[in-house]
Amino acid sequence: MNFKETLEIKTNRAEAVLKKYMPRESGYQEQVLEAMNYSVLAGGKRLRPILMEESFLLFGGQGELIEPFMAALEMIHNYSLVHDDLPAMDNDEYRRGRETTWKVYGDGMAVLAGDGLLNLAFETAAGAFDLARTDKEFIRAACAIRVLGRKSGIYGMIGGQAADIMAESGAEVTEDMLLFIHENKTAALIQAALMIGAILAGADASDVEKIEHVAYNIGIAFQIQDDILDVTSTTEVLGKPVGSDERNQKLTYVTLHGLEKSREEVQRLSTEALEILDSFTRRNEFLKELVKSLVTREK
Ligand code: IPE
Ligand code: IPE
Ligand code: MG
Ligand code: MG
Ligand code: MG
Repeated sequence: MNFKETLEIKTNRAEAVLKKYMPRESGYQEQVLEAMNYSVLAGGKRLRPILMEESFLLFGGQGELIEPFMAALEMIHNYSLVHDDLPAMDNDEYRRGRETTWKVYGDGMAVLAGDGLLNLAFETAAGAFDLARTDKEFIRAACAIRVLGRKSGIYGMIGGQAADIMAESGAEVTEDMLLFIHENKTAALIQAALMIGAILAGADASDVEKIEHVAYNIGIAFQIQDDILDVTSTTEVLGKPVGSDERNQKLTYVTLHGLEKSREEVQRLSTEALEILDSFTRRNEFLKELVKSLVTREK
């Protein structure tokens, strides 16, 4: 099987795991449930749950413990997108080829759909305690929930999104600030993916630290590529508006360093990530192919 076929199978698997944990639409809160499902079940690359499971496999993980965490992280990612698109943030009207959640359901319902996804994520992750077969697995699940909280919160994604707003229009911007934004708004959830996979598989602390570094590189490269595509792609290919960063006067790698240097940096960061992956005693060829594919991704 070639890389593309394997990726499709893994994407479908992530999709199926996610669907299992999404809520049924009923009751007086029906509309917020509909908005949650609308935003989550609209496609998307499912990169984070896929990375999580590949890290789990890299460190010899077995069993179902990973599944609630795969779903939980994708819920958090989707909530971050629902809020990111709001008029009060990036004010974007398209995502994954259709109207954003706030465009369809209104601002209030979109705020609540994001909040709903965030809470459901932790409730879902805590479901891992029911699946733990040993005390060790129970403890690993607890450690993983802590990482999920930290990397999606004020010392992770939310921190990065806050700095991203602070850096808009006119603020004094520095390379240090740019890296802070990329590390937190984007790399943090990718770190959560790879670290949680490793933790649940029973990797030791030094390997978890190494995989955190791999994820840092993947995450920064991923956001630089996102910023490149915001300038060079089309709405049809991306499924979301191009020129969003310019309109919002965002600080991006491209505005600071230009396209050519940005492309070089994506390549450099990815090569370094692959070298660290090669230093582990175990191998995961698919994970390496996936990291390589992100360098040239078009959406
Ligand atoms: C978009 O993430 C937000 C960024 C961190 C750049 P993805 O590019 O993974 O979005 P989907 O989930 O595939 O739509
Ligand atoms: C947002 O970065 C990353 C998040 C935490 C949602 P962007 O604002 O560049 O993401 P897109 O381009 O809207 O997907
Ligand atoms: Mg944004
Ligand atoms: Mg945005
Ligand atoms: Mg973007």
